[in-house]
Amino acid sequence: MNKVRLGIVGTGYIGNVHGKIYSRDERTEISAVFDIIPARTETAAKSLGAKACTSRDELMENCDAVLVCAPNKTHKEIALHAVAEGKHVFCEKPFTIGADHAKELRDAANAGKGVFQVGFNRRFAPVYQKLRELLKSDKAHSAHIKMNRGELLNPEWTGDVNVTGGFLYETTIHLFDMVRFQFGEIEELTAYGSQHEYPELDEFSVIFKFRNGFHCTFASSSDASWHFPFERIETFCHHRTIMTEEMERLHDSRGTDPNFETVSFQMIEKEEKWGYFQEDRAFIDSIINGTEPTVTADDGFKSVELVEAVYSAIKSGERIRF
Ligand SMILES: NC(=O)c1ccc[n+]([C@@H]2O[C@H](COP(=O)([O-])OP(=O)(O)OC[C@H]3O[C@@H](n4cnc5c(N)ncnc54)[C@H](O)[C@@H]3O)[C@@H](O)[C@H]2O)c1
Repeated sequence: MNKVRLGIVGTGYIGNVHGKIYSRDERTEISAVFDIIPARTETAAKSLGAKACTSRDELMENCDAVLVCAPNKTHKEIALHAVAEGKHVFCEKPFTIGADHAKELRDAANAGKGVFQVGFNRRFAPVYQKLRELLKSDKAHSAHIKMNRGELLNPEWTGDVNVTGGFLYETTIHLFDMVRFQFGEIEELTAYGSQHEYPELDEFSVIFKFRNGFHCTFASSSDASWHFPFERIETFCHHRTIMTEEMERLHDSRGTDPNFETVSFQMIEKEEKWGYFQEDRAFIDSIINGTEPTVTADDGFKSVELVEAVYSAIKSGERIRF
């Protein structure tokens, strides 16, 4: 069987994470790379054994699937280009910025010939797979969730709202997707936000109500330090709390006596612990088997819809209903 030829657009941090994983996948070949900084193209081409392309058009001519790994504001244009060329697309989060752009990209992706997968790696992380497995046998009533960052300084563009679309697009969107994955579809939300460290809203408090009656509080700060755990989901069930701590651990406490069990993922390599390895394998599985990807363009669209709804709720002071 022919190997799937991959082209990587944007060879910074995450482009290289995926590149290294795929260079060990026997079903793939990294055939082309392109970065707007030529030196980065060259370095990645050498380390991944790929053709160094001088334009996106040249990259498209030399691959079957495109990994969109450039900063947020570029995703729509690059992904639309790849879909128009009939390629399979793996698009890093955020899917895109703004509801109109998200709708345009979703519709194009759904009408496209290839597989379109969005880079919500956390869905594949063992800690969140474990939480989902436990919640299959117990009904979650409510949750208390946080997703923080220590800074918006690294990479430099993460503090530029014109590139990121806003802090919620850069960071929080990961767990906005996760709450849908774990708890179902959202019916309504209320939100508050304020601005402190950066020239954009950088602190958020949201309350979500789901169609199935589940509800949760959700806090997200861009300048909370990297205090462990920067992300946590505390889920409350019938006489039970299940708590995740980043991708490292899950605590499960049951019954009316004090007790808990801990599952640790600490010893797993980061690429697997964070779900990158599994999402990359899943993308190729979908291409080879012709199956729907685990994280679709519709999921991407819904994550953008949630981000936009939170910004809109803060601006208007109104409750948003879906
Ligand atoms: N899923 C995750 O856990 C995760 C982690 C990190 C980053 N990301 C996402 O991946 C994307 C890239 O982030 P990063 O941390 O790798 O950033 P980075 O700055 O390290 O790398 C981005 C690269 O893209 C290049 N680039 C910029 N515009 C381009 C264009 N139009 N065409 C080609 N190349 C271009 C830059 O020169 C740079 O080398 C962002 O959207 C980010 O949100 C996702």
